[in-house]
This record gives sequence, C-alpha cells and structure tokens, in this order.
Amino acid sequence: MNRTHNCGELRASHVGSTVTLSGWVQNYRDHGEHLIFIDLRDRFGVTQVTFDPDICGKDTHELADKLRHEWVVEITGEVRSRGGMVNAKLATGEIEVFAKSVTVLNKSETPPFEVSEHAKVNEELRLQYRYLDLRRPSVQKQIVTRHRVTKVVRDYFDENGFLDIETPILTKSTPEGARDYLVPSRVHPGEFYALPQSPQLFKQLLMVAGYDRYMQIAKCFRDEDLRADRQPEFTQIDVEMSFITMKDIMDIAEGCVRRVWKDVAGVDLPERIPHMDFATAMAKYGSDKPDLRYGLEIQDVTEWAKTCGFVVFQGPATSGGVVRLINAKGAADKITRNDLDKLTDFVRKLGAKGLAWIKIQNGEWNGPAAKNISPEVRAALAAQVDAQDGDVLFFGADRRKNVENVLGTLRVKLGTETLKLAKKGQWEFLWLHSAPMFEYDEETARYYSVHHPFTAPYAEELEKIETDPGNVRSQSYDLVLNGVEMGGGSIRIHSPEVQERVFRALGIGEEEAQLKFGFLLDALKFGAPPHGGLAFGLDRMVMLLLEIDTIRDIIAFPKTASASDLMCQAPSAVAAEQLRELGIKVAPTADQTRQQLQDAANKLL
Ligand code: AMO
Ligand code: AMP
Repeated sequence: MNRTHNCGELRASHVGSTVTLSGWVQNYRDHGEHLIFIDLRDRFGVTQVTFDPDICGKDTHELADKLRHEWVVEITGEVRSRGGMVNAKLATGEIEVFAKSVTVLNKSETPPFEVSEHAKVNEELRLQYRYLDLRRPSVQKQIVTRHRVTKVVRDYFDENGFLDIETPILTKSTPEGARDYLVPSRVHPGEFYALPQSPQLFKQLLMVAGYDRYMQIAKCFRDEDLRADRQPEFTQIDVEMSFITMKDIMDIAEGCVRRVWKDVAGVDLPERIPHMDFATAMAKYGSDKPDLRYGLEIQDVTEWAKTCGFVVFQGPATSGGVVRLINAKGAADKITRNDLDKLTDFVRKLGAKGLAWIKIQNGEWNGPAAKNISPEVRAALAAQVDAQDGDVLFFGADRRKNVENVLGTLRVKLGTETLKLAKKGQWEFLWLHSAPMFEYDEETARYYSVHHPFTAPYAEELEKIETDPGNVRSQSYDLVLNGVEMGGGSIRIHSPEVQERVFRALGIGEEEAQLKFGFLLDALKFGAPPHGGLAFGLDRMVMLLLEIDTIRDIIAFPKTASASDLMCQAPSAVAAEQLRELGIKVAPTADQTRQQLQDAANKLL
C-alpha cells in the first residue's frame, strides 16, 4: 500500500502526474454518462476521484459502482485539471483524479450517521460511535488544534528552562475540593489509592527536592458534578517555580498564553492582562470569574434604598443586607415583557425572592418597583446610577452573598443571551488575585479553603488566621477569559509552622493532618524553598481558543454529563472473581433491595 500523496495535497501543479491515494469514501455520485464521482477523504483533506469507463475499463468501473460510504479504498489515476469547474471550497478543488484502478482495502457497514458536517446527529449517538464522529473534519480540526497547543506549550516551557516531570496516578488523596476516584489495592486488602485531583503535592515536593521550574501536562481526576466545561478526567498544564513572587508566575503564565494565541490562532494579545482583586470582582461583577466582554456592571444602592420607601428594598437595606442593580443601558426596546418574565423565573431558580425591574421609556418609569418609588426618590437614584430614558434597571435586594450570586449570574445571562453583547473574536483576559484564604460554610459551621490548603496568606495578614480567618487574603491568582476560569494558582506555604496553623483554621487536627499530608509537612521541615505555581485547564484553553461551548468536543474520547463513556460502556460491572481478589463486596442498590423484598413478599403471598 503505497500512497504517493494524501487526500489534501494535490494542486494544479500536479496535473499530468500519476498518483495513488488512499482514504474513505465520503460521497459517491453517479452522473449518468457512465461517470462515477467519489469524494475520497483522509485527515488531510478531500480529493474528487472520477471513474470514466473509457479510461479505467469496464471491470474497475463496475467495482467503483459498488463503493459505499466509509469504505476504505486505494485508487491510482491521473491528475487532471478541472478547468472552469474549480471547487473553491476544497483545497484540492483545482484538480480531480481520473482513476485507472481501485482496490477495496476494507468495506464498511452503513454508518449509523452520515460522517459529514451537515448531518445533525444527537450527541449520544456521536459519542457511542466516537471513532466515526472523529472522522468529521471539524472534529479533526479541534483535535489537531489541541495537538498544536500542547506542542507550543511544551516548547515554550522548555525554552524557559522548565523540566517536564511525570508524577504518579496511583497516589493518595489531594484536596482540590472534589470527591476522589478511588482504586482498590489487591496487595493491601481494604486499602485504596486515590487518583490525583491534580499533581499539587508532588510539584511542591519537587520544589523541596530542588527541581526548580517544573511543568507537566497532567491528567487530573475529580468526581464532581459535571458541566459543559468540566469533565471527570481532564488535563492541566501544571507549573511550579521556586524563589519567585506572584508577579514572576503571572508573567511566565501570561507569556504562555500569548504564545499559544499567537502561534496557534495568529492572534496578538494586548501587552498586559488587567489585574483585579477578588473583592472588586465580587462587588462589580458578582463573580470570581468576571466576563469583561460587556459592561453591565453591578452598582450598590444600599444607602439610597435605606430611605427609598419601597419595602422590598428598604427591608434588606436596613437589616444588614444590600440592594444592588444592573443598569442595562439602552436596552428598553430590546427587552420584551416576555424576556422580563423569563428573567424573573431565572433568578427565582437561583434563590432570589424576585426580580424588581424598572424600564424607563418616554420619560416614564414602568415595572413592579416603579410605582412604589416617588419622583424625588427616583431622581436621586437616577443621578447615582446614570439612569436615563431607554435604560432598564434590574434590582437584587437580600443578603450580600445572595445578591452577588443572583446579579452576577443575571449579568452573564443578559450579556451573552438576552442582549447578546458578547461577540466572537473578543478575548477579555483578566487576572483575578487575592481571594480570601477561607470561606465559612453555615451548614457545616466551619471554614473551607477557597483555593487549596497549601496556598500562602499575605505575610501581613498572618495574625488574622486565628483571630479573623474570614478576612485573611491569599497570595492567589486565577486567569479568567471571557467569564471562564482558565487557570489558577498561588504562592505556597513553605513554613511547616504556618501550614499547621492553616490546617488548624480549617479544622484539620494534628492527627488528621499527619495522616493525610504528613509527607508534605515532613518535607517542609527539610529546607523547603519559597515556591509557587499555577495550572491551566488545557481542555478549557483549547475550548476557549476555538470559541466552542463544551470541552467534550476537544477531548478525543470524552465522557457524558453522567460520567459515562458511551463507546466502551464504562463504568461497568466486573467479574465476581475480580471483586473477590480485591476483597470487595458490592452492596445492593436501593432498587435491588426493594426488588428483593418485593420478590420475597410475593413468594409468601
Ligand atoms: P484548580 O483546581 O483551580 O487548581 O484547577 C486548575 C484549572 O484546571 C481546570 N479544571 C478543570 N477542567 C476541566 N474539568 C474539570 N473538572 C476541571 N477542574 C479544574 C480549570 C482550572 O482553572 N493544583 C491547583 C493549581 C495550582 O495551585 O497550581 C489546581 O488544581 O481551568
Ligand atoms: P412584591 O411587592 O413582593 O410583589 O414585589 C415587587 C417586585 O419586587 C416584584 O417584581 C418582585 O419580583 C420583586 N422582588 C421581590 N423580592 C425581591 C428581592 N429580594 N430582590 C429583588 N426584587 C425583589
């Protein structure tokens, strides 16, 4: 099998030469006059092959007539110009190959869906037959782009003196906040490995070991609720450095992103990515990953609301809550009554008590809140938030956290869907830094790490770890692009004493700390250098670069939202013998138990 060219290669300059091509039959057309046309496809492109009985002979022509979708064939023939019939949509559109012979290398059953860009196919079927889906040129483009990104990233870090070092997959639990995937040990019955949620602890240990400037393209595993930008196994571009400041890491990371956008997409990003601290982001955007492609900033009107006379606002404003609003400038004739009803339902699902809105049109204030607010009080508000004719105001009145969440989520909905202010080709990067170290959870009445427990607090805020943990800020930073967290990291704690204090603040006792992270605490005692790092989500980076909505598309073999692999049917039951070897007994599910009881009852009756 010796192809001379691939299916994307032939141009006008090849006219007259004899070539051999191999590939899949994408399309076949019988054009009367005995001419048969085949579109032959491989991953490099598509070439039109023509069978003319006067050139290829009767037998070959008969064979060509039998070719069907996705058969694998090898053809030999002569490259001819298409003259005036150039197909501008194909890179090979200037030529066609007049076949002299054809060999069927393999037949194909009729595929469950047409392997083409036009076919609308549901995702489940595509994932079940992912190897067919992967043949589609647009999917191939995504996979090839992913390859380009990893190549550029590896080159970039190599040029900057980073070492690519692998870390274990069978390991101990790492606390990135999700559930672990566990792997039972046969040799140690009743004991388990955990798949890494990230290489976090190992990269810190590599710094202790002196391997300054580490990078790895690492698989991570997290058992968490999946979304369009979350998979149970995903890939990080993982980085760690010693003797550095936050700025050094952000500079290296920024350089990486700039290089990827330039080399893979040909896009020049601005010289500097803006910085914003966590508190500002929450106040202005109600989010720790603000989408800066559109304005719609949140404004605080709590002071105004304290005496506004409208009980829905005045209540929260005078009892420790906040009243904030989004002024959608000039949106009055773009937002219909139906939109407003839908938006109200939308915020209710987020836990809001309602969505007071005011539409200002032709000098009139309309909407459920308007009638409750007197003209003088309106004027004061209008002056503060620049409310003018044509604007729509959306209010949130509640405890601060709720309002941030509701207006932050509403803002994205308005910007990306209702008003469609976000445009293709817009790259709004942002460094979001200095998140709180700890977040209090009312339900469990304890503090949790906002990043992870190895993140260093600002030195000047160390004393507050014991006295005011909620107000300790961390030396952390996330890189946000268009409202998606693309990466994040921090300066780490390198003092065993500080690490122990942070564990204590998190309610992790000495014994538990020793059990879970003893090896890290020990390592910190043997000359750990100051260090820090970051990890990008590689899948998310490629998704954002290609401006697509789900990371499933850029993973060769992704899982569904319920974490199944529809192609190989994983997860699946295993043989009883395998379980016995591992010393594992699977408890019946609630459904099975119910069925057993039912069966037993039926027998008795
Ligand atoms: P973090 O947990 O923020 O940090 O993860 C870093 C980046 O990984 C991506 N990511 C995901 N992508 C797809 N599916 C998921 N389930 C998923 N979870 C996370 C995101 C995120 O920004 N060890 C630290 C990094 C550090 O401190 O150096 C860590 O893992 O793009
Ligand atoms: P009501 O007087 O309760 O009918 O509410 C008047 C308007 O305020 C309605 O449009 C509600 O959707 C809205 N609303 C009620 N509670 C809140 C709240 N906590 N924040 C914002 N708007 C609210």
